[in-house]
Amino acid sequence: MTKILPANPAGIAESAATLALGGLVAFPTETVYGLGGDALSPAAVARIFAAKGRPAADPLIIHLADQADLPRVTGELSPQAALLARRLWPGPLTLVLPRGPAVPRSVSAGRETVAVRLPAHPVARALIAAAGTPVAAPSANRFGHTSPTSAAHVLADLGGRIDIVLDGGPATIGVESTVLDLSGPVPTLLRPGGVSLEQLRELLGEVALGGRAAGPGGQISPGLLDRHYAPESALHLCLGAPDACRVWLRERAAAQIAAGRRVGLLVPDEDAALLADLDADIEPLGPGDNPPAVAGRLYAALRALDARHPDIILARDLGESGIARAILDRLTRAAAGRVHRC
Ligand code: TXA
Ligand code: MG
Repeated sequence: MTKILPANPAGIAESAATLALGGLVAFPTETVYGLGGDALSPAAVARIFAAKGRPAADPLIIHLADQADLPRVTGELSPQAALLARRLWPGPLTLVLPRGPAVPRSVSAGRETVAVRLPAHPVARALIAAAGTPVAAPSANRFGHTSPTSAAHVLADLGGRIDIVLDGGPATIGVESTVLDLSGPVPTLLRPGGVSLEQLRELLGEVALGGRAAGPGGQISPGLLDRHYAPESALHLCLGAPDACRVWLRERAAAQIAAGRRVGLLVPDEDAALLADLDADIEPLGPGDNPPAVAGRLYAALRALDARHPDIILARDLGESGIARAILDRLTRAAAGRVHRC
């Protein structure tokens, strides 16, 4: 049985005690919900992988409440890491750093590095501080599914498989943290997220694009699989200028509907209004010129659409600046190769 606890002092205290005893607690962060376990306990780490059905080769992020705890998981920070920590933590930024000796190898899937983040969410911080240990936490979904942005999403995926879901309401940013590898000669973006590439370049100068961010063939972070964040229905993504995309969306949707197929549209509000005459399931994502609002709704909208089992889901890109880069990355992965230039 999985307990659902409110994120009040009693709920946080019970959750922290469960973590300290090696149990699993899903908790809210500002990005998405995490599935937490004691990062320094190999048994707890093994339970995380088992509950998610996650391959052992895909390393976990360690969450800390305070920078004073960094020596528990990594060595002394490089000047670049120290600068980012000072300016962007707590927040949606994960740094890949040298792994400290107390961190079980399984957390890092055998690598010499460890991914670390200080979440900004007050409930996450209170929970980790009260647990008294660094907390390993992947997103709280079954492996390959869309990340959860609410306690209900967590229960749908992991109910019965974990001890507690700490309900702190919807996650605000809505897409996962930015993952930046600082273990090599040049800082390398492995996953775009809540902290933008522009912010990182302003602070660091050169930032290389690695993993998925580098395009096909650039995979160096094992979690950056093509088929990831995937809905049950086949998602097709249109890349191009908004007007060209809208023409493509209408033509493609109309052809599918004419062929007797059920179409889902995952589009910004203005497109939803323009395409409202089509006999399709439409999930408006918020204003297209407000990518942070779209990021906040993206996963809930994807889950809602998927629950109606359309035969096909159509979506379009919203550009690449700021958090739109993270939205495009997640949609591209959800599309798993079904990407169309228009
Ligand atoms: O926003 C987030 O980051 C959320 C919340 C819960 O904090 N967590 C999250 O964790 O998204 P997860 O496990 O779903 O994604 C972690 C990503 C994966 O792509 C993984 O491959 C990468 O970080 N990663 C972890 N450790 C790494 C390492 N040592 N080297 C390279 N990539 C690593
Ligand atoms: Mg994940």
